[in-house]
Amino acid sequence: MCGIVGYIGQNQAYPYLIGGLKKLEYRGYDSAGIALHKTNDLQVVKKTGKVAALEEAFRTKDTQSTLGIGHTRWATHGVPSDENAHPHYSNSGNLALVHNGIIENYASLKEELLQKGYQFKSDTDSEVLLNFIEDIYQNNDCSLEEAIRIALKRVTGAYVILILSIEYPDTLFAARKGSPLVIGIGKGEHFLGSDASPMLEYTKEVVYINDYELAIIKADQLILKNLGNETLTPYVQKLDLELAAIEKGGYEHFMIKEIYEQPQAIFDSLRGRLDPENLSITLSGLDKIKDKLIAARRIIIVACGTSWHAGLLAEYWIEELCRVNVEVEYASEFRYRNPIITSDDVIIAISQSGETADTLVALENAKSKGATIFGIVNVVGSSIARISDAGIYTHAGPEIGVASTKAFSAQLTVLLLFAIKLAEFKQSASEELRKQLTKELSEVPQKVQYILDSTVDGIKDIAKNYQHATDFLFLGRGYNFPIALEGALKLKEISYIHAEGYPAAEMKHGPIALVDDTLPVVFIATKDKVHEKIVSNMQEIKARSGKLISVVTADDQLAMSLSDENIQIPASHEIIAPILATIPLQLLSYYVGIERQIDVDRPRNLAKSVTVE
Ligand code: AGP
Ligand code: GLU
Repeated sequence: MCGIVGYIGQNQAYPYLIGGLKKLEYRGYDSAGIALHKTNDLQVVKKTGKVAALEEAFRTKDTQSTLGIGHTRWATHGVPSDENAHPHYSNSGNLALVHNGIIENYASLKEELLQKGYQFKSDTDSEVLLNFIEDIYQNNDCSLEEAIRIALKRVTGAYVILILSIEYPDTLFAARKGSPLVIGIGKGEHFLGSDASPMLEYTKEVVYINDYELAIIKADQLILKNLGNETLTPYVQKLDLELAAIEKGGYEHFMIKEIYEQPQAIFDSLRGRLDPENLSITLSGLDKIKDKLIAARRIIIVACGTSWHAGLLAEYWIEELCRVNVEVEYASEFRYRNPIITSDDVIIAISQSGETADTLVALENAKSKGATIFGIVNVVGSSIARISDAGIYTHAGPEIGVASTKAFSAQLTVLLLFAIKLAEFKQSASEELRKQLTKELSEVPQKVQYILDSTVDGIKDIAKNYQHATDFLFLGRGYNFPIALEGALKLKEISYIHAEGYPAAEMKHGPIALVDDTLPVVFIATKDKVHEKIVSNMQEIKARSGKLISVVTADDQLAMSLSDENIQIPASHEIIAPILATIPLQLLSYYVGIERQIDVDRPRNLAKSVTVE
């Protein structure tokens, strides 16, 4: 959610800061700003709207400086406005700060500061934190570093903060708890970012900062400390990411590029794990917790949004193949109830970004109760990956479009590998079935490519015809029910059309009241053991004049004859079919969004990685 950049070194800071903010735009934001350290001055420029507006505002300014910080804001406290945008000045004007996250106890801190005569220009919790630091600094005989430490020990919530001080022309202060921060190490310079994308073209050596760590950064020195003032040794890692992976490469949007990258993303997630010759699966990530998994009384899947939908499908798969009880939880609910967790439970966390605040905290809670955490994460080195006891990375590559597409299909791929492997450990599914699924899984990349090529033109027409609908219903049963939920989520994110996903039969218990000849109903009706049942549901909608758009198995004449629009996908085992059925729904959302002229890569109000709860 939102982004943060910083630079200190021998070169000009501004090009890195503004370029870095553009690279982080995908995360979602409503305003942007930069502070540059000038001799005896801090120059802050900030603007509501896009980074391009900030760049425009800088055109008439002198951008000379070798030390600076930048921010894209996703408002939590106070409306998006120039005043609330970051960086903020402290009351004295000596300090400037950017902050990602939420300071939960800001109200009581603000009250304290108001009584001392502090004034606030914004409604943000961030400005409160900065003045709180300034107050400690001014009233105690301590260094700024010490003041930051004292302040951070008193705040609750989540943050990454970067601070500049007029008095420290050669130092950048940074700290994190709960929100991501990466420091890139150059030659006599340091690059800071919420993720590594801004620094890719400058350095491949990075340090991921952990919670409760404070970095005191100079051009040629990185000092890392914990809040107890103990010096830590930074763990320098090599980035395995190429610049091309985060650029559009000829596509009009990241979203469509990422939809088309799915054959490769799925292939990469299978590579080295699925042996198509022997039809065997190797998941070294499972080794560490194999015994635990086999003995697990229960598997609890914790995730949010699209990743939660992947988890829901995994529940169906794992229960079917592994005969173990699976529960799927919204992380945001799970963390605030008092779930019964024991050391016999294995928690599977699913997250593209690996930084989703709700998922992260839910895992921390479960871990403290003795559960084993297994992470299925896309972003290497992310917070969720790091707190997991074991895990498997999805190899979808960087996903920039806010709507998750290739990360979802890669999650499904890895979850099915997991289910088949666990079934092998537990001998809970026949070898014949396991081999068949392994074989069909190895064919998914080609089938996805085929679906992309063969369905896109028809889907463009459907998008044109139904772009003005005000509501959509997505219906599926069994393995296709989670896909109905995902189809609806994708459409609302990208087109702003109200859409609901439902189990097809459950539709009779309420949503059927919405059906008339203006309502498009998308059926995911591939051939499976409940096919006849869903065909009856299609009849029920048709009898009420609803418009049927159906994803069907190729040549399913009956389902096709009932539908106004058909999208055919290749035949496959019912366990594999939902992965394939996902693809046309992503294309449908994308093209409806395009028809409606939505900024599909950065739809309003959404953030790519939701680092606030
Ligand atoms: C997907 O299109 C969403 N924008 C959103 O639901 C997302 O899946 C959710 O926020 C979870 O993110 P994560 O996978 O990075 O944890
Ligand atoms: N809570 C802060 C604000 O509303 C920071 C939000 C963000 O993470 O961008 O300004």
